[in-house]
Amino acid sequence: TDTAIRASFFDFTGTVTHPDDLLNQARYLEDGVLLLREGRVVGLDSWENSAARLAGQPVTDLRGRLIVPGFVDTHIHYPQTEMIGAFGEQLLEWLNQYTFPVEAQYHCPDHAARMSAFFLHQLLSNGTTSALVFGTVHPQSVEALFSAAEALNMRLIAGKVMMDRNAPDNLTETPEQSYQQTRALIERWHQRGRLSYALTPRFAPTSSPALLEKVQQLRQEFPDTWVHTHLSENPQEVAWVKALFPERQDYLDVYHHHQLTGRRSVFAHCLHLDDREWQCLHDTESAIAFCPTSNLFLGSGLFNLKRSWQQGVSVGIGTDVGAGTTFNMLQTLGEAYKVGQLQHYRLSAAEAFYHATLGGARALDLDQAIGNFNVGKEADFVVLDPAVSALQQLRIGNSKDIWEKLFVLMTLGDDRNIAQTWVAGRPVWQRESQEQAA
Ligand code: GUN
Ligand code: FE
Repeated sequence: TDTAIRASFFDFTGTVTHPDDLLNQARYLEDGVLLLREGRVVGLDSWENSAARLAGQPVTDLRGRLIVPGFVDTHIHYPQTEMIGAFGEQLLEWLNQYTFPVEAQYHCPDHAARMSAFFLHQLLSNGTTSALVFGTVHPQSVEALFSAAEALNMRLIAGKVMMDRNAPDNLTETPEQSYQQTRALIERWHQRGRLSYALTPRFAPTSSPALLEKVQQLRQEFPDTWVHTHLSENPQEVAWVKALFPERQDYLDVYHHHQLTGRRSVFAHCLHLDDREWQCLHDTESAIAFCPTSNLFLGSGLFNLKRSWQQGVSVGIGTDVGAGTTFNMLQTLGEAYKVGQLQHYRLSAAEAFYHATLGGARALDLDQAIGNFNVGKEADFVVLDPAVSALQQLRIGNSKDIWEKLFVLMTLGDDRNIAQTWVAGRPVWQRESQEQAA
């Protein structure tokens, strides 16, 4: 073994298809040892069971800290980093007033490279090791992001936006251009190292039927790519889709008609679905990205987590920056809890951390590679400092078990709680300790 780390560990060891599975599948080692070799997990066990075998080997001692699998952000827009917290508008006006002008800047490769570095640093400093990411319509936006992620060896899925109508001229393209540029990016980046490509039509209103046909063609030509788009976020948007596509049964049918549903299809938001759409998501094994801070910030609506369990639809958590208001998964889980409260749904810490780790990996069809500490998994994880403020110390100090500690983390936690972030077995980010700062 190359690396042995002693700390507390929490993860889920297997797939959860019903909330009752959460406790059976959860694993907590108060004093454990994680063994890593060549970027992968080769073992996780209690200190007691490991100490003898480790005799004489150096052990990184992180006792007092809690290590969890790297957070998985299943929906985020890297070019919107610089417009986070744009005042006053709901989705459609927000796009026109704030989003499109900012995204137009990404025609410039230097800007894209600068913002890619900034964006990945934000992910890592918040404990997020994998993400499904929107670029802009410009191929150079995705080129810059993939280059930066490759240098960090991150498991990242991204794609250039495809859009050919209902957006400014400098952000639209023809279906043929969209096809050619997307194809070239897939050939260059898809399955290169830990990187993968997602076909990324922005959403139905900015897609003509001809564009969607091109997306369909690409998915047929590259069946192991992902599909990443928005679905049923805002009531005005839903009404607009009905008007634009009167021949389709509902919003989801616009995508389903072009065979864009299925495993590896991830639909952000899904707030105003009807029964048929829920059923179609289930039948096709499509996944949902639940984006609580975005849905609250844009006033879009309340995601129905209970329904997603009832329907057997896989859900991950998305920050949806820049409509979302934080990169931090702990804060995002805290907002998800409040979204639950508004619907009399009790989002437990177990469920919240499941969606943020293994559940998110499963929503992205990456649960063979990441999401927990099972042997063979890629070693992406976060070292959490459970109490970094007087208030957290007070509250954690009187918490009775791991569940309450996790719940306090998602209620009071933020980026200060992220002590270290490891990617593929290497520490890629570390918060300056008080001692170093002093
Ligand atoms: N729908 C279409 N584009 C976007 C976007 O950039 N952000 C959000 N939240 N919803 C969208
Ligand atoms: Fe979004």
